[in-house]
Amino acid sequence: MRGEASMGESGDRLGGQAAYGATRDRVETYFDSTATRVWERLTSDAPVSRVRETVRAGRDRMRAAMLARLPGDLRGARVLDAGCGAGQMTAELALRGAHVVAVDLSPSLVAIAEKRLASDLRGRVTFAAGDMLDAGLGGFDAVVAMDSLIYYTGRDIGIALARLEHRTSGPIVFTVAPRTPALMAMWYAGKLFPRTDRSPVMIPHDLRELTRAALAQGVEGRLAAVERVTSGFYISQLMELAR
Ligand SMILES: C[S@@+](CC[C@H](N)C(=O)[O-])C[C@H]1O[C@@H](n2cnc3c(N)ncnc32)[C@H](O)[C@@H]1O
Repeated sequence: MRGEASMGESGDRLGGQAAYGATRDRVETYFDSTATRVWERLTSDAPVSRVRETVRAGRDRMRAAMLARLPGDLRGARVLDAGCGAGQMTAELALRGAHVVAVDLSPSLVAIAEKRLASDLRGRVTFAAGDMLDAGLGGFDAVVAMDSLIYYTGRDIGIALARLEHRTSGPIVFTVAPRTPALMAMWYAGKLFPRTDRSPVMIPHDLRELTRAALAQGVEGRLAAVERVTSGFYISQLMELAR
């Protein structure tokens, strides 16, 4: 499945579509070719460098923090794993009994996620290669987007949240890169920039500006900063849009 997210009629939103689409294309190229093997390894038990070990540990903590925002028993709930990558969150959600729609732009990562999922959980997961904003994916009781919105501008995150909240009855739990001194130092030193021009760039956000951007795009729920995880090079802010 490869859905297009249409952003509506106003000139503002059409501008948003152009920016969103350009970032999405870069993210897709990056994760479906340049970064697939690195990502496959980072999300496995295989040995990695010290730096990547800190990232792996931070991501484990963040995954647990995100899961803690949802009920322990998800039987009967339909949950979107938006930007599922190699499927670590997908497996946890399915273990709690949810029916998970696991979508990612990268068909290669979706294939890895599908292959890794335990056979007894397979009936609980629908995998899709495509855009998380594709309305064809249906409606949800909750949405989880771990590190999948970190490349988008505040305006594009606002657009994504506005579109997702229309078809979600419960919380939307997601992460952003916060504008901390450490992340901004890396940003100015160019360390957040991948090596090739076609690759996406992580964008650190000021949380008040992010809230304003979300409101400007018509987001109706309450946006709250929940918890920050810092582990070496992994600095990530857990956010929740409560319905
Ligand atoms: C940093 S990885 C995180 C993957 C996974 N959520 C995890 O935490 O292991 C970001 C993922 O988000 C996906 N992604 C980014 N924008 C997306 C979009 N608009 N629709 C679907 N997937 C998207 C990328 O393809 C990539 O696999």
